Amino acid sequence: MNPTILTEPLAPVFGPSTVKGREPSDNSLASDVVALEVHGVKKAYGSHQALRGVSFQVMRGERIALLGPNGAGKTTLIRCISGRVRLDEGRVQLFGKPTTNPFAFHSLGVVPQDLAIYQDLTARENLECFGRLHGLRGRGLREQVSWALRWIALEDRADELTARFSGGMKRRVNIACGVMHKPGVLLLDEPTVGVDPQSRQRIFDMLDELSVMGTSIVLTTHHLDEAEERSDRIVIVDHGTVIADGTIQELLEQTVGSQRRVVFEISGQLSSPPDGLTWDESRKRFSCSVHNLLEELPDWISKFEEMGGQVHDLEVHTPNLHHVFLHLTGRELRD
Ligand SMILES: Nc1ncnc2c1ncn2[C@@H]1O[C@H](COP(=O)(O)OP(=O)(O)O)[C@@H](O)[C@H]1O
Ligand SMILES: [Mg+2]
Repeated sequence: MNPTILTEPLAPVFGPSTVKGREPSDNSLASDVVALEVHGVKKAYGSHQALRGVSFQVMRGERIALLGPNGAGKTTLIRCISGRVRLDEGRVQLFGKPTTNPFAFHSLGVVPQDLAIYQDLTARENLECFGRLHGLRGRGLREQVSWALRWIALEDRADELTARFSGGMKRRVNIACGVMHKPGVLLLDEPTVGVDPQSRQRIFDMLDELSVMGTSIVLTTHHLDEAEERSDRIVIVDHGTVIADGTIQELLEQTVGSQRRVVFEISGQLSSPPDGLTWDESRKRFSCSVHNLLEELPDWISKFEEMGGQVHDLEVHTPNLHHVFLHLTGRELRD
């Protein structure tokens, strides 16, 4: 795919309006415009090579989950993309322009891992401050601040100091500060850590709304279920390199396979167990892999009956991102 180089700044990708969220699997908005290109990025801290040559692309409107064990280099990568640390090698481009370009700077929104709001300012003052940083002034600034306050559902608390807010409310202000200038690409570094489930849901609804309007989203998270459900593509880094990049389906095919495993609990005595079954002595259960559950399951149940057994109960195990992650990194991903 050839990147489309834009010569003019993009029109704002979203505005102060409400848009219904799209289905997680609906990728129709991901266009062939390369919004973010990261190529061969290397970064060392002293003798420690934090990034060893990271490359990936994000298309316009695409939602990427950036995953990796602690210390893998995710935060360093986000800092490199946002220009907060200098690259040793490689390049980062936003809509075909280097990050030093003012258009590229204003195309990017960053929500850092550590809260980056002023606790001695109100929610409104924080938003005004970040809006000005990204060139918003006068009426445009006021409109975007109102929109952002509505968006994070904090209009009625707008003039209170953020120091008094709950963790989830601070997180929402932190996110609004990173998006209120209508970025084309939004980087979020673990925005839901320490956030209660209700606020987390609200944050993801907000991200869906942005994505619908064309913003590309790169999200690092420790919640693999959310990553699987809320992204179009998954990029996994470990030891400073990209070790996997694809849709969940592609990553499953490349690693553990997408076949389901069915575990049968049988009553009765089997004359001889059917071929293709594995016996788990500790659980006293049979299991097998199935390609098509609806087609194959009735056959298995009949086979057990022919052998003199009754299927008493069964469990279906579907491979997911947890299995992929464990397979690739040898580790579980935890908060
Ligand atoms: N400012 C820094 N100085 C020295 N080492 C750092 C610094 N920031 C990160 N590192 C190291 O770089 C590696 C990658 O860290 P980081 O990017 O924070 O990983 P992640 O976000 O995936 O947990 C780790 O080994 C970390 O200790
Ligand atoms: Mg980090």
